[in-house]
Amino acid sequence: MCGIVGVLGEHEAAPILVDALKRLEYRGYDSAGIATVNNGHLSRRRAVGKLVNLSDLLVHDPLPGKAGIGHTRWATHGAPSVINAHPHQAGQVAVVHNGIIENFRELRAELAAKGIHFATETDTETVALMAQFYMEQGDDPVAAAYKTLARLNGAFALAFLFEGQDDLLVAARKGSPLAVGHGEGEMYVGSDAIALAPMTDRITYLEEGDFAVITRNSLEIRDANGELANREMRTIHMDDARIDKGGHKHFMAKEIAEQPMVIGEAVRHYLSADGNSVELPEDFDFAGIDRLTMVACGTAFYACLTAKYWFEQLAQLPVEVDIASEFRYREPPIAPRTVALFVSQSGETADTLAALRYCDGKADKILSVVNVPESSIARESDLALPILAGVEVGVASTKAFTCQLTVLLMLALKAAEQRGTLTADEIADKLSALRAVPATLNTALEQEGAIAAAARKLSEASDVLFLGRGLMYPLALEGALKLKEISYIHAEAYASGELKHGPIALIDKTMPVVVMAPYDALYGKTVSNMQEVLARGGKVVLITDAAGAAETEDSAWQTIVMPEIDPVLTPVLYAVPAQLLAYHTAVAKGTDVDQPRNLAKSVTVE
Ligand code: F6R
Repeated sequence: MCGIVGVLGEHEAAPILVDALKRLEYRGYDSAGIATVNNGHLSRRRAVGKLVNLSDLLVHDPLPGKAGIGHTRWATHGAPSVINAHPHQAGQVAVVHNGIIENFRELRAELAAKGIHFATETDTETVALMAQFYMEQGDDPVAAAYKTLARLNGAFALAFLFEGQDDLLVAARKGSPLAVGHGEGEMYVGSDAIALAPMTDRITYLEEGDFAVITRNSLEIRDANGELANREMRTIHMDDARIDKGGHKHFMAKEIAEQPMVIGEAVRHYLSADGNSVELPEDFDFAGIDRLTMVACGTAFYACLTAKYWFEQLAQLPVEVDIASEFRYREPPIAPRTVALFVSQSGETADTLAALRYCDGKADKILSVVNVPESSIARESDLALPILAGVEVGVASTKAFTCQLTVLLMLALKAAEQRGTLTADEIADKLSALRAVPATLNTALEQEGAIAAAARKLSEASDVLFLGRGLMYPLALEGALKLKEISYIHAEAYASGELKHGPIALIDKTMPVVVMAPYDALYGKTVSNMQEVLARGGKVVLITDAAGAAETEDSAWQTIVMPEIDPVLTPVLYAVPAQLLAYHTAVAKGTDVDQPRNLAKSVTVE
């Protein structure tokens, strides 16, 4: 949450900072601000709401200076307001911050006892005031920042700028990612490398506890023990897709449409040359393990729930799935011969990373399935499997979800091969079906008109229920999450069999029910549940295939017909109507599809 940038450049810093913040806006968009040092003079501009408001402000009230820091905020402490917006300044110190300072109340009390006054409700202001206090006691800027950091608990990334210092940035990482970019006689910092992409592809990632002193021509890093540290500089390959909607109205629409292409790439990446088996980047043995523990948050968690069915049914491998925020504090025992698998689009989700660190040293191996190969989760895993979805900008995850499913299914097939639970022919058949998924998804995308019609009906509702059985249960959960996060309609999902254990009490004509039911072995049972809804005046949007539609005739309010597919692949295919339903409902309601309220793309606070 929150994006931070910094620049020590040869050109005016403000436009560079704003451009970099544009690339970080996915991390939060409650307010934005920048500070610069110009001939020694430190000043700042801040605006509430999206970055465009800051850009407008800078047109009327420019901010000169070639050294600067910037911030885009996802509010944690204190409402979104100009006063609470970063950078925070205290005397000669300006600070931008991503994360949470957990002991800020104690520090605030300590400073207040010294007669120091606070202007904001934020935890970050404490950092600026503390550094300013040390400077007033005679410390130079670097020493003051260092002493301040030693006082902070929590997970954060910070960048400091100082009055009178046109060639100095101080940056620190503890729990939240931070990258240093190397230019020609210029240096940058950013919450991720993509923020710095237009300026440089030469990146040094700070590690946990690192403290960096940066000038235009030097980078000195000390580790958590205060020792000088040598961190590798890498050349990172990044595409520019983040700021291009490719002719679509929204990034989310573009990313939904990209799924046939990116899934095709993911399948090719893990397929053997003859196309009949799965190849992992490194040898990994599922035969020698007894259990898989999968941990993730949100949409990635639903991908794990889906994969549980695959690993258990195809590979006879028992799987536990947990939400990272619960797992990390429950501190579950990790049985011998357990592999821990973490799924994350960003690879930076604070709870998932903490869960991974909990398993480190306890599980036999740490695997991850990630979209960002340079992310913390990828770097801290024994084996990181990329999903190759490309940059995902829409805050609501779409293509990352289906690419996660694709890679997890291929992993389950590898496990089935190694554990001898499927024959080589059975595996080759599944892989051949997987290779056909991109074409099948294109056919599903052609149903957009019917889905948009159903969405217009849903947009009138204030509550929607999603039902599914078997592999469609996690997908029902994902469909409900997508709908609520971008259309703000209250949506819940249940396993169809649970309906009569409580939720059926909610059914009346005002409550649409989306039923996801491919014509498979469970179809009859799900349709019985659907009849129970219809009998109580409920309105059903049925997502099924031609055989399923024929069986229910016209009893549904609206039927969305999907192409037929191998039952094992239905979650990948049925994700498309679930996403489009949410997308078109949000469009009909006129909400901010790509940047829904209160959310952020990368949740680096717990
Ligand atoms: C929902 C969504 C979130 C993320 C969750 C985990 O559309 O995107 O629920 O799935 O915040 O994020 P990652 O996958 O980056 O760990």
